[in-house]
Amino acid sequence: MAVHSVKTYAEAEELLRRDDLRQGLYDEGAVLMEKVLVNLHGAEHRARRMVEAKVFRRDVFFAYEQKIFPHTIAETLAPFLVDGCCDLVDFGNRVMLNLTADFSGIDRPERSAAETATLLGLLRSFGKAATLGQATGDREAIRAEVRDSLKLFDDAFFTPSMQRRQALIEAGDELPRDVLTVLLQFRSELPDSTHDTLMKELAFYLLAGAFTSVHSMTDAMHELFVWQTANPDQAARVLADPVFAQSCVMESTRLHPSSAVACRRPTGTAEMPAVGLVGPEDVLMIDLLAANQDVSRFGADAAAFRPGRETVGNVGPYGLSFGMGAHACIGRNLAAGALPRGTVDPAAHHYGTITLLVLALLRHGARPDPADPARQDASITRLKWARYPVLFNPPQQDGP
Ligand code: HEM
Repeated sequence: MAVHSVKTYAEAEELLRRDDLRQGLYDEGAVLMEKVLVNLHGAEHRARRMVEAKVFRRDVFFAYEQKIFPHTIAETLAPFLVDGCCDLVDFGNRVMLNLTADFSGIDRPERSAAETATLLGLLRSFGKAATLGQATGDREAIRAEVRDSLKLFDDAFFTPSMQRRQALIEAGDELPRDVLTVLLQFRSELPDSTHDTLMKELAFYLLAGAFTSVHSMTDAMHELFVWQTANPDQAARVLADPVFAQSCVMESTRLHPSSAVACRRPTGTAEMPAVGLVGPEDVLMIDLLAANQDVSRFGADAAAFRPGRETVGNVGPYGLSFGMGAHACIGRNLAAGALPRGTVDPAAHHYGTITLLVLALLRHGARPDPADPARQDASITRLKWARYPVLFNPPQQDGP
């Protein structure tokens, strides 16, 4: 087995678009990931993605962002504002869990703090399956933990959510718009739709939607704190101009892809650009971190946080952080919004959930807590924030 690595934007893009390469990042985490969307290939992947894409429409995201999400943010933030502080990772988990559970189709009948805590605990376990390839601890023990968590998830959340939707479908009632509902509605179009496969797909969705967004939000807040301190004359622009705030979030997302690498394995023997002849036993590591800092696409200061930078060629401001090709992120518009084009009406623009969260936090004066510095997570080799404590302004200092 040979491991090849590509680092330029052009090579990374080309490999991500090839359909003779399969997903390679989750082989170690098969206990959860074996049959989930991001790990499927070819016709099976297309069939499942086409069904699930029925939920991921721009008009649905926009309505959600305008009508529901502001209330979810306010409700989740309220107790932290009373305390005058929060851990961004904890706040992000709570708020994104609600959002992702809605889109995925996992009911939370109690809506209690205990129920949220249970679901968060399960998600943390599922997260360990997805990052098992990079884990530094005892991998068998992690697999056993993931199996126990999946059993609990199935009994307490998945099966009741599925039974409720199945009954609605059979009764011809109005249906919720979520991934589980469409999977059940179009079950006959899926090559594999056993209870176990659908249950793991939903566990994966919670993970794919929630944790990526939480880390992106925390990275964006960190970059903004540093940038506002270095640019005091421009600091106020972030709150005054939400389209600029969105470009800050996209710039941070470029610098901090949720996974530093994508990994692909050849499905047969083939000649790859920049790599040469490869076969199924080989591994292609696509260095997203490096590709997103390719000076030929992002300029000489590509490694720096400079919101609003021009890019060269048909390259998005977030680089390859949402992937490319068949597995490109299905939730990108939900998380990152629409790219501003031409003259933008700020009231009608689609900002994405991360920008809305960042704006809500900054509006309340969020700033790093000097007495409790942020910590990174040492349990995986992919560096992520373990906690990021911030302080808020006292309520009386906030505007109307
Ligand atoms: C900032 C937030 C997010 C980031 C950085 C992100 C990143 C990514 C990346 C890089 C991929 C491609 C993986 C690969 O090629 O191996 C991906 C795929 C995916 N993402 Fe996201 N994602 C985010 C938010 C979301 C949200 C909110 C959802 C759903 C609610 C979601 C659902 C998915 C799914 C289902 C896939 C698999 C698509 C497929 O294989 O066809 N993601 N994401």
